[in-house]
Amino acid sequence: MTDTPTSKRFAPIGPLTGTIRVPGDKSISHRALMFGALAVGETKVTGLLEGHDVLATAEALRIMGATIERFDDGSWSIHGVGVGGLLQPAQALDMGNSGTSTRLLMGLIASHAITANFTGDASLSGRPMGRVIDPLSQMGARFEPSPGGTLPLMMKGSFPTVPISYRLPVASAQVKSAILLAGLNTPGITTVIEPVPTRDHTERMLKGFGADLTVEEVDGERVIRIRGDAELTPQTITVPGDPSSAAFFIVAALLVEGSDLTIENVGLNPTRAGLITVLQQMGGDIELLNEREVGGEPVADLRVQHSQLRGIDVDPAIAPSMIDEFPVLFVAAANAQGTTTTSGLHELRVKESDRLSAMAAALTSVGARLKELEDGLVIAGSGGEPLRGTGNELITTHLDHRIAMSMAVAGLASKDGVEVDDTRPIATSFPDFEQLLEGAARG
Ligand code: S3P
Repeated sequence: MTDTPTSKRFAPIGPLTGTIRVPGDKSISHRALMFGALAVGETKVTGLLEGHDVLATAEALRIMGATIERFDDGSWSIHGVGVGGLLQPAQALDMGNSGTSTRLLMGLIASHAITANFTGDASLSGRPMGRVIDPLSQMGARFEPSPGGTLPLMMKGSFPTVPISYRLPVASAQVKSAILLAGLNTPGITTVIEPVPTRDHTERMLKGFGADLTVEEVDGERVIRIRGDAELTPQTITVPGDPSSAAFFIVAALLVEGSDLTIENVGLNPTRAGLITVLQQMGGDIELLNEREVGGEPVADLRVQHSQLRGIDVDPAIAPSMIDEFPVLFVAAANAQGTTTTSGLHELRVKESDRLSAMAAALTSVGARLKELEDGLVIAGSGGEPLRGTGNELITTHLDHRIAMSMAVAGLASKDGVEVDDTRPIATSFPDFEQLLEGAARG
């Protein structure tokens, strides 16, 4: 990332039409690299997201001994070190903006007799790591975090680690995955109990790599067990398009009059697809075409047409399946007819930014009427009237890619456009967002 923020005005544009593809899924891309790095032999990946977050994972795995290459056709190859084979890193692991890289790699390292130093940018250095430190300490790893349980952090893995049975206190796929990855190289059976289901890419992909992993539903909770001392078999992986990136184009097409946009190859794993359900409940015209499977994940092409949205009460139970999509849902709600109420969203306060307060401030400055509650926003929609601020508001993105892209979408549907203070963070998850937007506006 360059040193100086790059501001940009996102002005109203014409209808979004034609057919686009969004880049590969960020969660699946991180996992493809990590599991490939633990398999002996060559794992091949196509459709890998080449955003800064995923590249941070690749670099850390190289530092710990994996061979990772990109070919000219955009495909990737990983030669792994085998489960338990990570090497002592000779330098600090710079995680940039990426919570997923940090927490999953902490899990991987926990069961190796190595010491690692984790660093990150200002956003990542404010995020809580106690949620992974607690279970991984129970397994035997040791941690010296900065005050408040944050980065920079030093950890000492342990070999052997002890298997634990751990009920997740927060609905977090990152915490679940960190424990399962530590469990891969831990003798015996490591168990994670999920009272609320979260994205299950780790479980699906680990099974694909040959790990002995079971998922059972017991008294309404998901019980995931992994047998340690595992051996992983290299795979050929096709990464589907990221539903969290598609979300910006879905909402943009719903809001901008005359739009009729097809987004091909969007991952629709049920643990990720909550936004589509909610937007359909709001009256959004989103059609699922050509439903199929890609790389063990359900995928479809989405046809999205401009719609007048209606405000609804969003069921908090759906939150984990759209946890990254709330910023852009708030933009949809601000343009809908009637009031949208969201609740149960405490986790949004510890993402790349405090997304409740960041979006409340951003939308208010462009003329939306809303109330910020402890665990959600209540938004009185404009009824389809384009939002209009005082004219010189500058949106603060707080190093958060999803705030930047959500407010870009708000700009497209506004009266006079919206100026975002810093578009650099967009490259963490969606490097060609702006080009794709301009292309879709040209049709
Ligand atoms: C992710 C899990 C989610 C999500 C993040 C990616 C993952 O975080 O917000 O963008 O790949 O496991 P939490 O596990 O903290 O909810």
